Amino acid sequence: MKTPTAFFKPLAIGAPVPFREKPVRVERMIHFVPPQIEKMRAKVPALIDKVDVILGNLEDAIPADMKEEARAGFIQMAQDNDFGDTGLWTRVNCLNSPWLLDDITQIVAAVGNKLDVIMLPKVEGPWDIHYLDQLLAQLEAKHRVETPIMIHAILETAEGVNNVEAICGASPRMHGVSLGPADLAASRGMKTTRVGGGHPGYRVLGDIQEGVERAIYQQDLWHYTMAKMVDACMAHGLKAFYGPFGDFSDPEACEAQFLNSFLLGCMGTWSLHPTQIDIAKRVFSPEVAEVKMALRILEAMPDGTGAVMIDGKMQDDATWKQAKVIVDLARQVAV
Ligand code: GLV
Ligand code: MG
Repeated sequence: MKTPTAFFKPLAIGAPVPFREKPVRVERMIHFVPPQIEKMRAKVPALIDKVDVILGNLEDAIPADMKEEARAGFIQMAQDNDFGDTGLWTRVNCLNSPWLLDDITQIVAAVGNKLDVIMLPKVEGPWDIHYLDQLLAQLEAKHRVETPIMIHAILETAEGVNNVEAICGASPRMHGVSLGPADLAASRGMKTTRVGGGHPGYRVLGDIQEGVERAIYQQDLWHYTMAKMVDACMAHGLKAFYGPFGDFSDPEACEAQFLNSFLLGCMGTWSLHPTQIDIAKRVFSPEVAEVKMALRILEAMPDGTGAVMIDGKMQDDATWKQAKVIVDLARQVAV
């Protein structure tokens, strides 16, 4: 389904916000499909009802000699399926690769009216978004694409992180930004070979105490970037996403990483493996107990002002807005 999401406004900004009339599309997981593999394309109809977004991946993880097959496979899968309310995205190759221009021109020509979002990797600054924006404008006019195709940037270079605010504000086509921890680690010279998640060496030690085993606290490698990305996105009315979690053998760590990002303000994540779909669905939907508490706050302060006590805790205009974020999300998820 094509629904413009560029003007998605985060909730709880400024004074009490009126309840939104139309639900905003829920995008808890962007599910990656390698479209050059026929067996994977055959699974798409069954996936459509299970995921919020299906993405045909053309970039990293697709071998150089399979790029054309992946592009053709994506076009095929877009033509063969009715995606209903499920979003259809593609991750194209990066701007300085030999494949990007063909990715964009061929895909927009063939399935521009079905494609919701183009995920652009390795975005370094607003100039990258301007280029794609103009290219899309030309191709949309040429091929009579009725709804603008949105752009989603991956934040995965040190320069991109430096310029994240300008990237977010570069075009009204901007849909959101995902963290790309694998490429970002390489770009920054971090010493890891993992795709997202933590590292046992990145930790702080508790104090030495006589007769007590020394505590070790592993730290979140991505906290700084994620917070910076969320602020930049929210300031421009975009959605922030965590990205890939590569250790499929550790669903608990995957869930913890997703949850950190959800609590920090991200709206969704990538699912690279079927087992990550349910994890993402669970994590990026608010918990029933949280929703009940949030409803109590809204009910206790009908006009969103003043201060009340609930279970010994002070609530005021600010917690009213926090509650509104949770209740609005619960409503969107329930649609
Ligand atoms: C994703 O593309 C990443 O590099 O983490
Ligand atoms: Mg990457």
